[in-house]
Amino acid sequence: MLRNRAVDCLVAGFVVMLLSCKSFTFAAESDLSCLRSIKKSFQDPNKYLTSWDFSSRSEGAICRFIGIICWHPDENSVLSINLSNMGLKGQFPTGIKNCTSLTGLDLSFNQISGEIPTNVGSIVPFATTLDLSSNKFTGRIPKSIANISYLNVLKLDHNQLSGQIPPELSLLGRLREFSVASNLLIGAVPKFGGKLGNKADMYANNTGLCGGPLKPCSSTSDKLR
Ligand SMILES: *[C@@H]1O[C@H](CO)[C@@H](O)[C@H](O)[C@H]1NC(C)=O
Ligand SMILES: *[C@@H]1O[C@H](CO)[C@@H](O)[C@H](O)[C@H]1NC(C)=O
Ligand SMILES: *[C@@H]1O[C@H](CO)[C@@H](O)[C@H](O)[C@H]1NC(C)=O
Ligand SMILES: *[C@@H]1O[C@H](CO)[C@@H](O)[C@H](O)[C@H]1NC(C)=O
Repeated sequence: MLRNRAVDCLVAGFVVMLLSCKSFTFAAESDLSCLRSIKKSFQDPNKYLTSWDFSSRSEGAICRFIGIICWHPDENSVLSINLSNMGLKGQFPTGIKNCTSLTGLDLSFNQISGEIPTNVGSIVPFATTLDLSSNKFTGRIPKSIANISYLNVLKLDHNQLSGQIPPELSLLGRLREFSVASNLLIGAVPKFGGKLGNKADMYANNTGLCGGPLKPCSSTSDKLR
């Protein structure tokens, strides 16, 4: 979409050119502000993100940042963010919402704490991969994850998430990888059908999950659904 807009800028008449280049610049600004806010929201003891230098205004500068993949190497439109295993601390960076074309987010193996925002579904609505595993997230798994309808991979394992797994997650028809192992979750597991199925490994090492491949839920935990 952005590429087409760039081509439009070249071939269209003067007025159209101005308008469409303006919206193009706007999209780029939004992704810049996304990455700026991510850098700001993390403590980065190993200084991986100090290489994120925003002083270059050239198109595509952010595409050479560590952990960033763009849709096209010369356009500031972020396709995916992978900050796995960088020792990052802080909270989930809600400014990611401004990376409006993001399809992948991997923040695994860091020390990110606090809750996963309840509106995470509107922060990364087009994610096909969401990997928040091996961090220090607490609180509930947000229901809004069920709205990230292109999700293929959802990894929330090795955190301190508590409460129940929202049964709505079974609506994610494209999931082919899912794990909530090693958390503090209780209650019934979702009724995943299709390709994913339900395997005990996905749920191992929790406080009190039941149903599916695990022990049957007692009538009281059934009522919790
Ligand atoms: C992110 O990077 C790590 C380390 O380089 C790699 O193992 C992992 O597969 C990447 N994540 C994704 C979603 O590609
Ligand atoms: C997105 O960017 C705009 C302007 O660049 C800023 O005002 C807004 O606060 C940002 N949104 C988030 C969620 O950070
Ligand atoms: C999911 O998206 C629908 C439609 O946009 C919205 O009405 C609903 O509130 C969202 N659900 C959650 C849990 O965010
Ligand atoms: C569950 O915990 C045990 C012991 O710490 C560990 O060996 C195993 O890999 C964990 N299982 C999963 C699926 O994380």
